[in-house]
Amino acid sequence: MKRKFLLFVLLLLTLSSSRASVKLDLIPYPNQILYEKGKMSLSADAPVEIKGISDKALIDFLINRLPFSQKESEDLRKNPGVTLELLKDGHSKSDEGYQLIISKEGVAIKAHSPKGLLYGVSTLNQILYQTRKADYYQLPLLSIDDVPAYPYRGFMLDASRHKQSVQTVKAILDFMAGIKLNAFHWHLSDDQGWRIESRRYPRLNQVSSYAIRSGDPEINGYYTIDEIHEILKYAQQRNITVIPEFDIPGHSWAILNAYPEFRCPNAPGSNAFCAGNEGTLPFIESLYDEIIEIFHPEYIHIGGDEREKGLWDACPLCRKKMQALHIRDENKLQNVFLNDVVEYLNPKHVTTIAWAENLKDGIPANQIIQSWRLEDETITALRMGHRVIVSYHKDNYLDYPENKKEKKNKPSWMFVLSTEKVYSFDFVPKEATPQERGLVLGGECPLWTESITEKQIYPQIKRRIEAHAERSWTKPDHKDLHRFLKSYRSLSGYFGEYFSGIE
Ligand code: ACM
Repeated sequence: MKRKFLLFVLLLLTLSSSRASVKLDLIPYPNQILYEKGKMSLSADAPVEIKGISDKALIDFLINRLPFSQKESEDLRKNPGVTLELLKDGHSKSDEGYQLIISKEGVAIKAHSPKGLLYGVSTLNQILYQTRKADYYQLPLLSIDDVPAYPYRGFMLDASRHKQSVQTVKAILDFMAGIKLNAFHWHLSDDQGWRIESRRYPRLNQVSSYAIRSGDPEINGYYTIDEIHEILKYAQQRNITVIPEFDIPGHSWAILNAYPEFRCPNAPGSNAFCAGNEGTLPFIESLYDEIIEIFHPEYIHIGGDEREKGLWDACPLCRKKMQALHIRDENKLQNVFLNDVVEYLNPKHVTTIAWAENLKDGIPANQIIQSWRLEDETITALRMGHRVIVSYHKDNYLDYPENKKEKKNKPSWMFVLSTEKVYSFDFVPKEATPQERGLVLGGECPLWTESITEKQIYPQIKRRIEAHAERSWTKPDHKDLHRFLKSYRSLSGYFGEYFSGIE
């Protein structure tokens, strides 16, 4: 009996060690992965078969994301290949989920939506990167059944402090799809520049898009409507929602430099719109209309952060408005002002997102809140019944230095944000109830670009953005910092390739 038991243990050890030896490096790590014993080979020109999709553009897009030299083929019998299958029947736990099965017969990716197929391809590409031999791939047999932990997995790029080229934005979107991030928050207006072509207000482009007084033409300018459309299409193919931000009422120096009549009359250098000026709201609404015409967005970010304190309390027009509306102070006036904007946008089928600010003073019911400044903003917004995107700065701001050495070259107020800290951060506050937990949409890492040029973007965010992708996709129980760091070392060359063309 004892002998049999020992043999059994020996067999288990042999099996588990042969399985352990083929462990792959995958970021974000799949939520379920089962390794089988054995391997299979795919040639560099393996055939690819698509099932259940008739849209030619989608077929071409998916095939072109794979590295095989042979284009679509119907015949996988002669040579093992890859099948991508859009499933019609049954239900799925998430429309972003996918199955990836590697057997002796070939690789099969199945999903209930093109989003899932895209993510199956993203996972397969990481597998191919690390299993490549001279002119073929040797893949472990396995099956993956994967769904994301959070529906919102975001990255914010500040295009105002440094405008990036279309090529750079596309590289970022490509990379995001490769690590399964799905929300691109595009910070397109701030004190330093307005970045959207405007046909209604040409001075925005003549003046506001060139607000940074620098000889460097690359950090100034604006995206033409055609370029924006190109980027939107590129993002949509990659399952990325683009969320344009036009930040009001503060952070608007560039716009007000071109249209100073919308400043408070007693504050000529201010960067905030005057809430008491009768013309301000129609001007802002008209600009949002233009954004809607260009982007057709599901979401617009209206900012709402860091309006200069004391400005409106000291302005005769704002004070008159506060008296007329029986409003006690400028914080309440801000909420009334932003509520008017939200009420204007909601009937246009736009959901608004705003940075958490003045939560106590009331926020429109269906507004999504993005927490950033205070640790308790997330729970406060959840308790008020709002959906929340979590970007608490100490755990999410990627312009912060990654270690003490880097901190020496950064403004002194910045905190150190290590990869380990990003990885370990939980979007859901510990005190949240199950119901409140359901209101946490996910998290977002912003990159503010005051001191970050295009070619510094990936060096600045690398490792931490991959850590963010994993904490957003991989369920907390399946996270493992040690495994993540090892996988990052193995895949860093692969991720770096997304940015290889950026000068
Ligand atoms: C912010 O960092 N001002 C949202």
